[in-house]
Amino acid sequence: MIVIIQSVIVPVTYQEILAGIYSLFNSKNRLAEFETMLSELVDCEYVILTSSGTSALYVLLKAYGLKRGDEIIVPAYICEKVVRLLLDMGYKVKFVDVEKETYNISIEDLNEKMSKGTKVVIAAHMFGNPCRMDEILEVSHDHNAIVIEDSAQCICAEYKGKRVGSLGDSAFFSFGEGKPITTISGGAITTNDKEVAKKAMDIVNKFKRTNNKILLKLILYSFIKNRRIYRLVYNKIQKRRERRWNELKNAMNLDDLEQKFTNLQASIGIIQLKKLRYFNEARYRNSTFLIRGLERFKNIRTPKIPPNCKPIFLRLPIYIKDINLKQRLLKALIKSGIDASPAYPNYLPNFFKINHDCPNARDLVRKTITLPVHPCVKQKDLIGILDIVRRVAE
Ligand SMILES: Cc1ncc(COP(=O)(O)O)c(C=O)c1O
Repeated sequence: MIVIIQSVIVPVTYQEILAGIYSLFNSKNRLAEFETMLSELVDCEYVILTSSGTSALYVLLKAYGLKRGDEIIVPAYICEKVVRLLLDMGYKVKFVDVEKETYNISIEDLNEKMSKGTKVVIAAHMFGNPCRMDEILEVSHDHNAIVIEDSAQCICAEYKGKRVGSLGDSAFFSFGEGKPITTISGGAITTNDKEVAKKAMDIVNKFKRTNNKILLKLILYSFIKNRRIYRLVYNKIQKRRERRWNELKNAMNLDDLEQKFTNLQASIGIIQLKKLRYFNEARYRNSTFLIRGLERFKNIRTPKIPPNCKPIFLRLPIYIKDINLKQRLLKALIKSGIDASPAYPNYLPNFFKINHDCPNARDLVRKTITLPVHPCVKQKDLIGILDIVRRVAE
C-alpha cells in the first residue's frame, strides 16, 4: 500500500489536546504567556494575537490608518489571501516581480515601481527564506512607505543575525494548519512601534469571542498526521485546497476576520512554541539534504539562500526548467505517495485580473513544485524523493 507523505503538517500531540481540554475548564489566562514567549523569540516588544495571519494584516493596515485607494506594493508571488484582503479593503494593489532564485520580491523591480503614492510595501519571506530586508527598507523609507513583513511562513528564520518579524516597521505571523507551529488557525502582529501596537490592540479588543470548534479540528488534525489515514482523506483534502483557491476569486467577508484568538489556542501555542527549535532544525536539516541531493540535476534549480541568512523552509520549492519534466515529476511523486504540490498554482496578476506584467512570477508559477520537509519527513523519505527525481530526470 502506498503511504502518503503530507506536503505540510505540524506534529500535534495528545499532550496538546489534553492541554486544550484542560484550558476549557481552567480560567487561567494563557494569552499573556504565549505573547511573551513569542515576543522573546522574535525579539520584538509588542505582540498582538489575532484569529489568523490575514486578520493580523487587516488589523495592522487599520492601525496604520490607511485609506481606501491608498497604494500597496505586494510581490507577485505570495499567498493569494494577502492580495484578496488588500483588494477587499479597497486599496490599490501594485504587483512587483520576484527574484527567480529566491521567490522573494525583486529589489530592481521594487525600485522601478515605487512611487510617491506608495504607502505600504509587503515584504514576504516566501517558504521561510528571508527576503532582502536592508534594501527593501532603504527603498521604501526613501519614499516614506511603511514596510510590513509577511512572516507567515517562518518563525525564527534569521536575517543577518536578527529574527524575521523584528526587521520591518511591523510584521505578521500565521499559526494556520501548515505553518511553522499550528494552533489550527491564528496569527500575530509583532512591532516595536508603541503607537501602532496600542491602536492594533484597541481594534482587536472590540472583536468577537468565538471558539470555532478548535478542539475538534485539533483532534482531526492530529489524526491526519498518520500517513495511512492521510492517504484515505487525500482526495478530499486535495479538493478542499482547490475549492479554497477558487473561493479566493470572490470577495471575502471581512467580518469573519474580526474574531479573537482564544485561550484554548494560546495553551496549544505555548506547547508548540516549546517545540519550535526542534521543528525548525528538522526543516533545515531536511531541506539542506534535498538541496545537496538535487545539485547534480542540471534541469532543477533549488532556492538560493541569501548571505548571512538562515531560512527554515516550510516546504522546499524546486524550479524545473522544462515544463514537461515538471509535469512528469509531479505525477511520479504523487503516484509514489509524496504529496508534492505545484504551489502556488496561480499567477496573481491574472488570477485577480490586474494587468501588471511580472514575468519571473509567471514563470515560477508554471515550473515550481514544492517538496515536503516538515518534521514528520524521515531520512528514508528524502532518499525516496531523490530516487524518484533521479528516475524521472535522468
Ligand atoms: C505568505 C503567507 N501570507 C499570509 C498567509 C495568511 O495566513 P492565514 O492563513 O493564517 O490567514 C499565509 C497562509 O496561508 C501565507 O502563507
